[in-house]
Amino acid sequence: MKDKKKILVIGATGMLGSALTGKLKDMPAELHLASWPVKTDGTFLLDITNPDAVEEAFNRIRPDVVYNCSAYTDVDGAEKNVEQAILVNSTAVSLLAQYCYNYKSLLVHISTDYVFDGKGNTPYMPDDKPSPRTAYGKSKLMGENAILESQCEFLIIRTAWLFGPYGKNFVETIINLASTRDEIKVVNDQIGCPTYTFELANAMIELAGNGSRGIYHFSNQPACSWYDFACEIVAAAGLSCKVNPCKTEDFPRPAQRPAYSVLDISKTVEALKHPVGLWKDSLRDYISKRN
Ligand SMILES: NC(=O)c1ccc[n+]([C@@H]2O[C@H](COP(=O)([O-])OP(=O)(O)OC[C@H]3O[C@@H](n4cnc5c(N)ncnc54)[C@H](OP(=O)(O)O)[C@@H]3O)[C@@H](O)[C@H]2O)c1
Repeated sequence: MKDKKKILVIGATGMLGSALTGKLKDMPAELHLASWPVKTDGTFLLDITNPDAVEEAFNRIRPDVVYNCSAYTDVDGAEKNVEQAILVNSTAVSLLAQYCYNYKSLLVHISTDYVFDGKGNTPYMPDDKPSPRTAYGKSKLMGENAILESQCEFLIIRTAWLFGPYGKNFVETIINLASTRDEIKVVNDQIGCPTYTFELANAMIELAGNGSRGIYHFSNQPACSWYDFACEIVAAAGLSCKVNPCKTEDFPRPAQRPAYSVLDISKTVEALKHPVGLWKDSLRDYISKRN
């Protein structure tokens, strides 16, 4: 009988990493879970910016598949901490890709809609030219390019507007605000697709397993504004707070937000051979589980 696949999940305790780990635990695989900076039950510590630690992990595990769910994800913070964003999202990713090449491991890496400029008005295709406008987006694109250059076997999945348990996310922010206020304002001139971590995790496993390689896009459907999303969150959570639409300029942020962040997922749908779920259904699932 063939040995079980050895799978290394990096960033296993982050929002996406937790969802992915939950799914992989049900599968017949030898699972190695790496977390940083806090070690939890069943994980070992791995700082991907520490080359000795990365070398030790690859030597010891010799993984067949590496899922990289770790990242510097503070979009506003990256504008000031450019070096740290580049270190985690690019330099460290380059090192992971080199080890994946050396050890013949498949690298499944997550990237973002922020690699695009957000000025479009039709969904971005995986091979559209990236043109990031934020330090975070630039660091993530550098990470993608490092993977392409490494010649390792890779699957890069760009996603957007993630929500799920074990992380800071828009759903929690809106529920917290709407629980304590009578009215809130939410921008309605930024368009994107909310994405449930569990659905992305399923897609990651399926695409990795069915031989899909290269760059793919994944998000739930259909597109909406943050305002539309907030209205659904308040309704699904059974709250009575009034949600008012406002403009991006009413909420200035250090990093410029893309006005249009919709990713074309048709290549992914074809590879998965089934439709991708609606974010409204995912939202109800998430809210029912958190209650
Ligand atoms: N959240 C979104 O809306 C969104 C949208 C598009 C794409 N993405 C991408 O999706 C992926 C997963 O995002 P997420 O929302 O699940 O992020 P997350 O919850 O912030 O998880 C990322 C994990 O990486 C860890 N990490 C940071 N620096 C590290 C290092 N040097 N070594 C090892 N681990 C390190 C983080 O630890 P700390 O918490 O201590 O920093 C955290 O546990 C990322 O690649 C992100 O760029 C996210």
